[in-house]
Amino acid sequence: MGLFDKWKPKRQEKKIDPIDLSVLGVDMHSHLLPGIDDGATSLDDSIQLIQHLQEMGYRKFITTPHIFWDMYKNTPEIIQGKLQELRAELRARQIDVEIEAAAEYYCDEHFEEEIEAGSLLTFGGNKKFVLFEISFAEENINLGRAIFNMRLAGYQPILAHPERYEFWHRSLERYQSMIDKDVLLQININSLTGQYGPNCQRITERLIDKGMVSFVGTDCHHMGHVQLTHQARQIPALKRLLECGSLRHDELM
Ligand SMILES: [Fe+2]
Repeated sequence: MGLFDKWKPKRQEKKIDPIDLSVLGVDMHSHLLPGIDDGATSLDDSIQLIQHLQEMGYRKFITTPHIFWDMYKNTPEIIQGKLQELRAELRARQIDVEIEAAAEYYCDEHFEEEIEAGSLLTFGGNKKFVLFEISFAEENINLGRAIFNMRLAGYQPILAHPERYEFWHRSLERYQSMIDKDVLLQININSLTGQYGPNCQRITERLIDKGMVSFVGTDCHHMGHVQLTHQARQIPALKRLLECGSLRHDELM
């Protein structure tokens, strides 16, 4: 019997007034660079997404294109090149926003090579935060080794959307074991809306109420995600997250 069996989400909770996301200030997980992954498709698209997110209160974006060697062979050069293009366009349109780029690494062989080479894209300055994800189907067999080697190399791993890994849903211990291995957890704000299913919503709220969440990101790829983020701003669990003191967004400003 898992630790979640007795726990029920507070589904009847009333919506609250939309939260101003300027309390977070920074969004550290998104796909806003045009044309290099499954996120923004053009510069216009990038800018539209950024402006909508800005209206909700974000002042800074650390955008994180996929590096997933079977599908998105993005290199630091490609990512930096696109970032400069986007920054130039933002300047040309006189849009005042801070934007940096790192990556969302898929835990594959290429990721392990980059760990070993010490060449991962990081954010948070000398904190050396690294955002990474695992398979949605099953736990990657190299996960433990990748985490160990990241820590050994002085990186601070952040696991992207742990609430979306269904194979962990019935075991809070797996989430705790990540934290025990010095992995920080980043939930998607949109998971609170139930968009990824009730189990995902339930585990997200559980992680929040256990104080296990260090970061919350939009994981914004397209306008559909912007709209869900609008909805998430009215969910009481988000308010609890912002007030519980577990978030580390102030280290990203
Ligand atoms: Fe993502």
